Amino acid sequence: MKSDKNIFPIFNLIKENDIIGTWLRNSYFVTKEMSLTEHGLKHAEFVSNRALEIAKSIGLNAKHQDLILVASYTHDIGNFLSRTYHHYLGSMFLFEIFKEKIDIKDLTIIMQAVANHDKEEMKLVHPVSAVIVIADKSDVRRERVLEKDGQKIQADIHDRVNYATIENKILISIDKKTITLKLKIDTKVCPIMEYFEIFTTRMNYCRLSAEYLGYHFSLIINNFKLL
Ligand SMILES: [Fe+2]
Ligand SMILES: [Fe+2]
Repeated sequence: MKSDKNIFPIFNLIKENDIIGTWLRNSYFVTKEMSLTEHGLKHAEFVSNRALEIAKSIGLNAKHQDLILVASYTHDIGNFLSRTYHHYLGSMFLFEIFKEKIDIKDLTIIMQAVANHDKEEMKLVHPVSAVIVIADKSDVRRERVLEKDGQKIQADIHDRVNYATIENKILISIDKKTITLKLKIDTKVCPIMEYFEIFTTRMNYCRLSAEYLGYHFSLIINNFKLL
């Protein structure tokens, strides 16, 4: 990922900030302790890479790409204090740390995107928010499973579905106006139905976000078009 100061100056500021790094590491440990999937640096990097890919593909400008990188990299930092309120906390923390360093108009967009990425009251008011929701909610991967014990993985539906997902791609068609999440699921680990059991809400967030951007959200699992 490019973090060139000239291209993405705000993102560069965030990546160099020790507080952000510390809270990301702590969020990893807290969510691991809660037996959740990985919510640390790797998730932050996956979501920022994917968010940047979407932003570039749909033609958002460099400034918006920069804000998208910042919000997607920091969206889960609030987890080290509270899972339930992590989206609000993360947003407030960013204000506290960067209020003197980032223009308030840009910081407001970032804060809205972080506060908005989770929970039912999602309200899309900016493309930056919409891109982050798609990137975050589409992060289902075997690598996110922290549990090593095969029996325990089988006993937990979130671990099972993530562990079963061996391929995860996002495909964007400007001509067809579609954003497609293409997954390969090992059905020996879990049936495709289980994906929907836990991810219907997330897919709905992706659909609403894609529509906000003027796109149709599509889901393909094991070469079957399901949405
Ligand atoms: Fe989150
Ligand atoms: Fe997340």
